[in-house]
Amino acid sequence: MSLPAVNPTKTEAWKALENHFQNIKEHQMQQVFSEDSKRANRFKIEWQDFYFDFSKNRITDETISLLLKLAEEVKLKEAIDLQFSGAKINKTEDRAVLHTALRNFDSLKPEVKDTLQKMQYFSEKIIGGAHKGFSGKSITDVVNVGIGGSHLGPEMVTEALKCYKNHLNVHFIANIDGDEVAEKLNRLNPETTLFIIVSKSFTTQETLVNASVIRNWFLENTSKDDIQKHFVAVSANVDKAMDFGISADNVFPMPDWVGGRFSLWSAVGLSISCVVGFKNFEAMLFGAFEADKHFKSQPFKKNIPVIMALLSVWYNNFFGAESEAVVPYSHYLHKLVPYLQQAVMESNGKSVDRNGESVNYQTGTIVWGSVGTNAQHAFFQLLHQGTKLIPTDFIGFSEPLHGNLENNNILMANLFAQTEALWEGTQLKTVESTFKHFEGNKPSNTILIKKLTPKNFGSLIALYEHKLFVQGIIWNIFSYDQWGVELGKTVAKTTLKAIENQQLSLLENASTKNLVSKIVEK
Ligand code: F6P
Repeated sequence: MSLPAVNPTKTEAWKALENHFQNIKEHQMQQVFSEDSKRANRFKIEWQDFYFDFSKNRITDETISLLLKLAEEVKLKEAIDLQFSGAKINKTEDRAVLHTALRNFDSLKPEVKDTLQKMQYFSEKIIGGAHKGFSGKSITDVVNVGIGGSHLGPEMVTEALKCYKNHLNVHFIANIDGDEVAEKLNRLNPETTLFIIVSKSFTTQETLVNASVIRNWFLENTSKDDIQKHFVAVSANVDKAMDFGISADNVFPMPDWVGGRFSLWSAVGLSISCVVGFKNFEAMLFGAFEADKHFKSQPFKKNIPVIMALLSVWYNNFFGAESEAVVPYSHYLHKLVPYLQQAVMESNGKSVDRNGESVNYQTGTIVWGSVGTNAQHAFFQLLHQGTKLIPTDFIGFSEPLHGNLENNNILMANLFAQTEALWEGTQLKTVESTFKHFEGNKPSNTILIKKLTPKNFGSLIALYEHKLFVQGIIWNIFSYDQWGVELGKTVAKTTLKAIENQQLSLLENASTKNLVSKIVEK
């Protein structure tokens, strides 16, 4: 069965939202809290360890009910059920979208169970030191070699859960930049290093070239037989991994129905399982599973990812906001934004709808941001006094992990204060000069989570996954392919040929020709 394909702009709700927007767009909404003592309690959702406050948004009850109507008219419920059923909703690649099956503890597929067991067994041997390298020493360093979805998730999680980390050092080699590879290899000892080559396709240029460079470096002091003790692979393409020289036992399979940018829950999370332990990895899957149940079962008005998505559509398609910022107030989450950039922008950066027609409305938002309070001293000036409307997600944790309450109180005070200052501005206060005037009326969501545990972190990521799915459904696009990354790869092949063969005639574009000539004429 296919996803419903409704042009959102043709729905009644969309037209009503357009009218409603005309009424609301100029409203300075600072007074809403004093006019409506129940607003803060009405526009919030409490769920498990999460408190989601969306009351500081440019919305009224009517906005929410129209947005909910839009969700109904585009048949969101049907789409959610289809996704979880395993239907091939990734139509342009003829695949199901089932990353949720990797954490469906109500009924784990046998292949998922097998892989989890294999991951547990392997990571415990690495952590416990039973797995020996070629010279008989235990492993001290784990290197994840992969790019995009085969890198960003594991890196984000190992950083986010650093507090739960064991003695193993973890490194990431993603970029084809040879300087970076050399720099990292210089600091590693082949005797005690495990390389996990992660590539769903096992055809990605960066990963394959880097893996070969690493293998050659490794073989400088060892023999081919030693490879099996130091190289494992994670891939849906087991044969290709074996062609590279990794034995079948050392390949951790990943199913075809898991998209790269949603794959951290699969064997792609092997580095996570090694450095924070399998139990913590499993707890993270469990947190995601809880979020899946919330998403599937809660009525839309009490459904965190649905409300997040609807608000985002409201700003993107009616206010014309082009971007949204994400600001986690936890240094542990400093890799969240790059992760979300791939998840959101690779998924929803599309301009053809599910009927194959060009869209005449905006789709995928630009996601950016960084951690607070650092961000306050970097780009917050623009959020407060710039000309652009940038809805912002603030993420914070009530309890610090290391017991430093004094710092945490200051950190949280800053988070809450920023959302208030953005919203209130100085409208109601007297300011000495126009330069010190803050317009306010700047929207934000606050996601306040009790504590940064593996379970809660898993839930957080799954909520964002579901948010982007809902947006894709509303925009009537296919969120799970990524054809837009292909053209550049093809052009790069010809460009590389021109560079390697010093053959400028292969190139057609005059600008590219000039640029290439600067390299080949050295
Ligand atoms: O950037 C394109 C992409 O295909 C991503 O979707 C994917 O996560 C990444 O490349 C890496 O792909 P692979 O895991 O197959 O090496």
